[in-house]
Amino acid sequence: MNEQTVNVLLVEDSPTDARLIRHELREVPGYGLEVDVACRLEEAAVKLSQQPFDIVLLDLGLPDSMGFETFLKIQQILPRIPIVVLTGSDDEAAGVEAIRRGVQDYLVKGTIDGKTIARAIRYAIERKQAEAALQAKNDELALANRELEAFSFSVAHDLRNPLNSIIACCSVLSSEGESRLDADMQTAVNHITAAARRMARLIADLMELSKITRREMNNDSVNLSDIARGVFVQLRDFDGGRIADIDIDPDLTVEADPGLAVILMENLIGNAWKYTARAERARIQVGRTIIDGKAFFHVRDNGVGFDNALAGRLFKPFQRLHSDKDFDGTGIGLAIVKSIVDKHGGSIRAEGEVGKGATVYFRLER
Ligand SMILES: Nc1ncnc2c1ncn2[C@@H]1O[C@H](COP(=O)(O)OP(=O)(O)O)[C@@H](O)[C@H]1O
Ligand SMILES: [Mg+2]
Repeated sequence: MNEQTVNVLLVEDSPTDARLIRHELREVPGYGLEVDVACRLEEAAVKLSQQPFDIVLLDLGLPDSMGFETFLKIQQILPRIPIVVLTGSDDEAAGVEAIRRGVQDYLVKGTIDGKTIARAIRYAIERKQAEAALQAKNDELALANRELEAFSFSVAHDLRNPLNSIIACCSVLSSEGESRLDADMQTAVNHITAAARRMARLIADLMELSKITRREMNNDSVNLSDIARGVFVQLRDFDGGRIADIDIDPDLTVEADPGLAVILMENLIGNAWKYTARAERARIQVGRTIIDGKAFFHVRDNGVGFDNALAGRLFKPFQRLHSDKDFDGTGIGLAIVKSIVDKHGGSIRAEGEVGKGATVYFRLER
């Protein structure tokens, strides 16, 4: 960058200030600076649209635009150009605020010399380039992710048909041909059916996960206590014989996508319910915990628990710490939960102890 010519647009309405800054710019070491001056925003806009500039030095108070608007308007014209704001000596706070809102740097008029300008220009350009590179990488990643999701969705979809025909053929074999199949053959056909059904379920769950990732969010105020009560009603309808103490804190409210919040609670409470199936008296508690000063919701149970050292694995697709024989499942539920939490910009963690139970903590904001 050092040897190349840098085209600077200085937007400054005070001729005295402009002259001073131009003078300092002439002194900048290590740069071939080409400086053009605009006194009004309108003039700056015309210049920016007609010639390529590498950086804008911008006084925010112009005859035809005042304050932060001036920055936003320039940014609108050329979103990728580095902008260094010039502030009065009495208004450094505006400079700091400007940086917070996307300005690359600020210079305080009256304290500007060749060195500070050189540094500001170099940093501004380099920072902007790094930002652009990062943005490009992000865009690339997002695209790759979308493609991968679309791909897995269509593969999953295509796998369903052959599976369905395997299941259908097995059913023909065991019904019509009952007399022709001996006991071993019948057992084999049953195994094939069970395996195909399991695979169909895995595929369906995988498609569910991929759907969640792609789904658009519409946030609203959500009451997790109400959702939790509804989930328990359903579980009891299904599985009425169970003795369980359910304790739900009231008013667990949060800004979230209502549909996704239901899926999240169904999975967490579903797990607590499933993994307490063997407890003499299941206890499941839904509430709020403060961890390191941050509010988390939690779902706690006194079920079989898990080895806490393996807690990090639970949120990956298909990772199960319990066998299919002991507890039915595909290992996708917590991956779905994690994806919902991620979509909200939140965080999640699980704690467990073998034989004592498990707690999942989550929050749906940063
Ligand atoms: N409440 C819980 N108690 C004990 N283990 C749990 C609990 N919740 C999740 N797990 C463990 O995490 C694994 C992943 O959970 P999940 O993705 O919901 O899959 P699934 O319930 O289908 O097995 C489970 O297989 C189980 O080993
Ligand atoms: Mg589950």
